[in-house]
Amino acid sequence: MGSLSRCCNRRGWMATLFPVLLVGMDAATIAALQAHMPSRQTFTARYPSTLPMHSLTTCLESLSLERRNSMDQYRHVSWLDLSQQQAQQDGDLDDFDHDSISMPLYPLGAVYLPTNHTVNHTLINVEPQNIQMAQDLLHEAFVLDSKQHRIVTDPANRPKFCVVLRAMDTGRIASVGTVMSIVEAEKQFHYGTEDIARIRLTCHAEQLMKICHVENGDGWSAKRLMKSQEYLRASVRPFLLPTSKTATENAKNIQEQLSELSKDWMTVKTMYQLDLGSGGFPPGTISKLGDAIQEVNIGARKDGICQGSEDSLEKTFWTFAQEWQSVCYTLRQGQQSLLSAERNELMVEAACAKGGPLKLPIHMEDLEPQDRQQIQRLEGKAQQRHIELGMDPILDFQALISLPNIQYCAEWLHFLVKRERQRLENIVAVQYSK
Ligand SMILES: *[C@@H]1O[C@H](CO)[C@@H](O)[C@H](O)[C@H]1NC(C)=O
Ligand SMILES: *[C@@H]1O[C@H](CO)[C@@H](O)[C@H](O)[C@H]1NC(C)=O
Repeated sequence: MGSLSRCCNRRGWMATLFPVLLVGMDAATIAALQAHMPSRQTFTARYPSTLPMHSLTTCLESLSLERRNSMDQYRHVSWLDLSQQQAQQDGDLDDFDHDSISMPLYPLGAVYLPTNHTVNHTLINVEPQNIQMAQDLLHEAFVLDSKQHRIVTDPANRPKFCVVLRAMDTGRIASVGTVMSIVEAEKQFHYGTEDIARIRLTCHAEQLMKICHVENGDGWSAKRLMKSQEYLRASVRPFLLPTSKTATENAKNIQEQLSELSKDWMTVKTMYQLDLGSGGFPPGTISKLGDAIQEVNIGARKDGICQGSEDSLEKTFWTFAQEWQSVCYTLRQGQQSLLSAERNELMVEAACAKGGPLKLPIHMEDLEPQDRQQIQRLEGKAQQRHIELGMDPILDFQALISLPNIQYCAEWLHFLVKRERQRLENIVAVQYSK
């Protein structure tokens, strides 16, 4: 252990433990980037430092309210309190009975787009209430055999539940969620026992749902902390109703939006392939992403799938939106891994400085106050950079699924893609002006 402490501060040793550390942050690029981003605010000052910042996220109600000032689309995002009383005060009383159905509600920190069978999503359930929900659903659908670990559901009778974004800062949930149908389930047991450790669900995101009210939300946070098996149920009804305009007219507008979008999309792809904007990400992240992004070329298509009905356009649209969300997730993951590496480096250094044997993993509470503060500053800055980057896989997509029709959705997605194109073009401009 003694020799370990001695060489602790040496970069070479660190690099073998955390290879990603060798990646230098391109400070000039970040500065250039920040200069072009709107509303550079001190994130750390306004959000309580109790949030676990080392997981970069944007699922904050306060951030969505702030974005209302600059983006009208955010006016469609609304939040519900889990307790019934509050939901009723918020209005929507007439929604309660008409066409609504009762379903298990699954709050989480992500947004799912209605891509239906084109994409498989995996949800891994470890919390007692989520395990209980999955078991009950599989029981109801008569597919659960206690001896069976892997369960494939009948396509005509797939159990369903509704996922919804939960704001980390307020604990409230978004008013629009997504129905998931379980395609396949896999149970994993605690070693040598019959106790379920986790259930892995493969799901299709079928359809958007308006959450009318939560049936049993009172005291939910406390129940969750107590590891209660009680899961939430909500009354929900289908969202994204057809618009009043005629279908043909709509289809034409959506087609036009998608055709414009596809041009910006291809420009972004090319710029990523050239590794533009790669500062602040592990090497290769951006160029690999550029290669991986699907090509889209809607404008040139004369009689392909996209010329069809509003229905098939809608499907095409969600495929694009899903792809764009994956791009955003990839960028977040890149930022996240750099943050983790830098955080680890600081923690190891701080722990070594304290002397004595190095105990892994290192916990924040084991460190000196000034070291903790330094790490919190690092996390705050990374969180701020994540938000300023503008490639947000969560809230921007909650805004997307909250829009009242597919045409607005197409306009919003186009805006998001165009904004990224402009960000990259600004980086090029700065580089050339030097
Ligand atoms: C989704 O998962 C099911 C079951 O494992 C599989 O049969 C299907 O091909 C998968 N679909 C996609 C789009 O990956
Ligand atoms: C989802 O796809 C299935 C076919 O796999 C189809 O039967 C179902 O109607 C679709 N659901 C929606 C809401 O489009």
